[in-house]
Amino acid sequence: MAEVTLDLRGQPKAEAYAELKTHALAILEGVDDDICAMATMSCLLHHAFGHLWTGFYRVVTPGKLLRVGPYQGTLGCLEITFGKGVCGTSAAKGESVVVADVHAFPGHITCDGRSASEIVVPVYGRNRELLAVLDIDSEHKNTFDDVDRAALEDLVSWFQHRTA
Ligand code: SME
Repeated sequence: MAEVTLDLRGQPKAEAYAELKTHALAILEGVDDDICAMATMSCLLHHAFGHLWTGFYRVVTPGKLLRVGPYQGTLGCLEITFGKGVCGTSAAKGESVVVADVHAFPGHITCDGRSASEIVVPVYGRNRELLAVLDIDSEHKNTFDDVDRAALEDLVSWFQHRTA
């Protein structure tokens, strides 16, 4: 296993994500465990980009309830109802949500007052069932764009397409 935690700050975003994906796939080769993969991706993303909070909310009651999973950062709230906050909105719609300014997002759930922008990406399993959402929060406004969205959707497609 390539036991290195990359710091990719300073690299162009698309290149950084490409390197991160190659690294993550090598580490997760042969893995068939959602929590193990969520923990590994949280760690790699968090340290690669240095955002405020990086982690997963898992679907514990389909269509109803998310519960926090592996993450890096300050204390995350434990449960989020589908439809609530950015995570619950992404889960309910089954779509990525990019928020340039969390203070302008109605119903945003504040876990860390420093959070200013965020991206939430749905995570699907082998049968296209919603397993979780990946949530990344930034201290700065306008941090995330379509490059992040596409790269993160591609990274978490591991859960749907893994070979192990
Ligand atoms: N920002 C999220 C809540 C989760 S935390 O920030 C870790 C939301 O509004 O869904």
